[in-house]
Amino acid sequence: MATQIAKGGLEGVVVAETTLSRVDGERGRLVVRGHDVESLAKTTAFEGVFGLLLEGALPTPARQREISSALGAGRQEAFELLGGIGDALSAPSGMDALRASLAHLRPGDGDLTEHARIAGATHVFAAAWSRTHRGQAPIAPDPSQGHAADYLRTVTGTAPDPACSAALDAYLVTVAEHGMNASTFTARVVASTQSDRVSAVVAAIGALKGPLHGGAPGPVLDMLDAIGEPERAEAWLTEELEAGRRIMGLGHRVYRVRDPRGAVLETAIERLERRGVRSHYLRLARSVEQAAIGALAKRHPNRRLETNVEFYTAVVLDAVGLEREMFTPTFAVARVAGWLAHAEEQFAAGRIIRPSQHYVGPMPEAAA
Ligand code: COA
Repeated sequence: MATQIAKGGLEGVVVAETTLSRVDGERGRLVVRGHDVESLAKTTAFEGVFGLLLEGALPTPARQREISSALGAGRQEAFELLGGIGDALSAPSGMDALRASLAHLRPGDGDLTEHARIAGATHVFAAAWSRTHRGQAPIAPDPSQGHAADYLRTVTGTAPDPACSAALDAYLVTVAEHGMNASTFTARVVASTQSDRVSAVVAAIGALKGPLHGGAPGPVLDMLDAIGEPERAEAWLTEELEAGRRIMGLGHRVYRVRDPRGAVLETAIERLERRGVRSHYLRLARSVEQAAIGALAKRHPNRRLETNVEFYTAVVLDAVGLEREMFTPTFAVARVAGWLAHAEEQFAAGRIIRPSQHYVGPMPEAAA
């Protein structure tokens, strides 16, 4: 019987049953534990989606306060660890710094304390790297603040505009969980061996770093800078495509329509603008989006390639005052919630992920 080989990107292979999220690529819909992402982003803070993912339902106000305190305590504990993580923060990229610093955490028991400790450390180490990288001292977290507001404060060094904190919170909620993406699968493979949650998250950070996954939003801003004016978009994009380069922030393995998270983030930027915080890039981004969709449609008439979440991620994170090298670490600050929830599901499934391969190399010579 001929060996059945999955496609190189494992597209179409279903590797788990999950109650965490459903990504409908045809209709452009993302449901997280029974809630549309649009409604979560409008009504919930990161603390709420953290509870939703890790405890199964949106927390009551009292439970949300407990989650908030646990995350605050996790941030404080991580800040105290800064002296003991060697030169982890001297890495040239924030993702390398996160990988090295998170590896110092001690695994725990998989309870709220451990989840909050890992999420708090991701937040604190990312913010501390951003400060250290600019030659500034890290700022101590304030456990009484929301996770999003405290992140902006400890990165920028000033009390954030509440409109910016709200926009960042909407971003964290929007990207906290998204199906069997590469970093989530990585976390699940590690958890499937009955390893620990710290190892699962450190491995996932390595997968998220790549430009085909979480590393795209910084280059999206580089592209917008290089284009500069809407009139130059078409020529610039054509040149890139002719040189065989990919347009960052466009295309998606699963979505055949516009990534629904892009619309949520666009709404967050519009709300930010109504509250007086101007985005330098929104108008240009909209023109470039249309030009890029058109240029890709010409080249791939049978494959719809539209903007993915990273495109407007770049615009929203820039508008709230984060520098582009912080975009992917900030993605990790949100997605750590999804990784941990998937790791818990995988621990409960209790079966090691161990696929097969098809050997096409030489065999030893038969004995003469
Ligand atoms: N720019 C230019 N061409 C692209 C493209 C892009 N952003 N995305 C896909 N294509 C091309 C592919 O090269 C492929 O061309 P081919 O048939 O001539 O080989 C064709 O479109 C179909 O690609 P597809 O199979 O749908 O892509 P994928 O599922 O392997 O890859 C991504 C998905 C996300 C990795 C890919 O779209 C990409 O590299 N995007 C840019 C990086 C990015 O924004 N990443 C963030 C993802 S959330």
